[in-house]
Amino acid sequence: MAGNVTTNLVQAAYIVSAILFVLSLAGLSRHERAKEGNAFGVTGMVLALLATVWLVLDRSSHPWTTLAYIVVAMAVGASVGLWRARVVEMTQMPELIAMLHSFVGLAAVLVGYNSFEAGSEGAASGGLHLVEVFLGVFIGAVTLTGSVVAFGKLSARISSAPLVLPARHWLNLLALLVSAGLLAWFLASTSVVPLLLMTVVALAFGWHLVASIGGGDMPVVISMLNSYSGWAAAAAGFMLGNDLLIVTGALVGSSGAILSYIMCRAMNRSFFSVIAGGFGQAVATGEARDYGEHREATVADVAELLRGARSVVITPGYGMAVAQAQYPVADLTARLRERGVDVRFGIHPVAGRLPGHMNVLLAEAKVPYDIVLEMDEVNDDFPDTDVVLVIGANDTVNPSATEEPGSPIAGMPVLEVWKAHDVVVFKRSMATGYAGVQNPLFFKDNTVMLFGDAKERVEDIIKAL
Ligand code: TAP
Repeated sequence: MAGNVTTNLVQAAYIVSAILFVLSLAGLSRHERAKEGNAFGVTGMVLALLATVWLVLDRSSHPWTTLAYIVVAMAVGASVGLWRARVVEMTQMPELIAMLHSFVGLAAVLVGYNSFEAGSEGAASGGLHLVEVFLGVFIGAVTLTGSVVAFGKLSARISSAPLVLPARHWLNLLALLVSAGLLAWFLASTSVVPLLLMTVVALAFGWHLVASIGGGDMPVVISMLNSYSGWAAAAAGFMLGNDLLIVTGALVGSSGAILSYIMCRAMNRSFFSVIAGGFGQAVATGEARDYGEHREATVADVAELLRGARSVVITPGYGMAVAQAQYPVADLTARLRERGVDVRFGIHPVAGRLPGHMNVLLAEAKVPYDIVLEMDEVNDDFPDTDVVLVIGANDTVNPSATEEPGSPIAGMPVLEVWKAHDVVVFKRSMATGYAGVQNPLFFKDNTVMLFGDAKERVEDIIKAL
């Protein structure tokens, strides 16, 4: 009787948590309500954790031992999590997220094996349960190695160039077919051998899937792995008979899938062409071309240009985040606006390393929302713009995307800054951007380079003005 009451109360807590998670996602989709959304998410998660621990203790024959295990595991996890969250730089967020996704994958694999063992002991392993176990382990293993490779690529521990194995699409198809065959064997034999073999195949499949995706397409990979980690959690929910885990997993899985779709549209790629991989292998052709000489400007030259300008568009990129230049950029914007200059920002959908990265930085520095425009809102205005300040952006303002069909980033919509009267590029060297592609913008007649750390250079300009 007491057990039933506990189960009912826990189910009620799960429903409240699920509603809080939906409210959290709704809040996080708008800047103004993001903090509220976070608070809903945290409350939902605390409630879900308390309810789950209570349920486990209620069912356990040794509640104190079980509680001790849970407390130790949570203390270790929470200390590592708190430490990482405190020290992580904003620019390292994508790699941290990739690492966290790999944990979800690993958890799904472990839950799968555990659930299989428990099921076979109790002779309760019906066909449906076996399918759940098999799919849970498969999705978990793909997420695990895929996320590890994504972590390596994002933190520059592995080359961001795509791995192009001969017949790579056939290899992927073969992995899927072999896994389907192993599922049939698993269902017929209920032996652990096909499960183990499939785990090896799925680990290799996940590794290959992400290794064959080139640098410029990494934004889609992150959101795709986010989606996979959601499905892995949902699969674990089915195996454990935990409704909240199924709901939460489905929320993460579907929101990740929607984000991947949005990212693909922003990059003008089809979803299947991204996951099939192999973009970026034409890098060499771009590198070999002679684009001519670039021109260097001094701080005084740029200050002079800005003094004469009536309209300025600032296009920030990853370098602004690295330099933490958003504060002086906001200061420069305010000063130019005081002088009557029309200043606006053009934000590329994949600028930086996170969806919305630039918007977050500019909001942090208190740049007014109404002058921060999306790429499509500003792209037609460049021909009427006096000066564009490209602050630490590279791939997102690369004309080869529109002018060179052989380029690895061909077809990706970019900010067409070169159509403005004058362009000033703030960066430290002539190095390429994330996709590893040379940028012909730097060699155009109306472009000047202002070398150095973006924060220091913008501060110098403020002084010179
Ligand atoms: P990137 O192409 O990454 O180029 C950034 C530029 O900033 C570099 O060329 C670098 O040149 C410069 N830089 C670095 N530190 C700097 C500093 N302290 N001061 C001044 N400049 C500095 O930037 P982007 O235009 O924002 O493009 C983003 C790229 O990342 C795209 O290829 C996108 O696909 C990829 N990506 C995006 C995401 C998301 S979701 N946004 C996720 C993963 C990958 P120097 O070294 O010469 O200074």
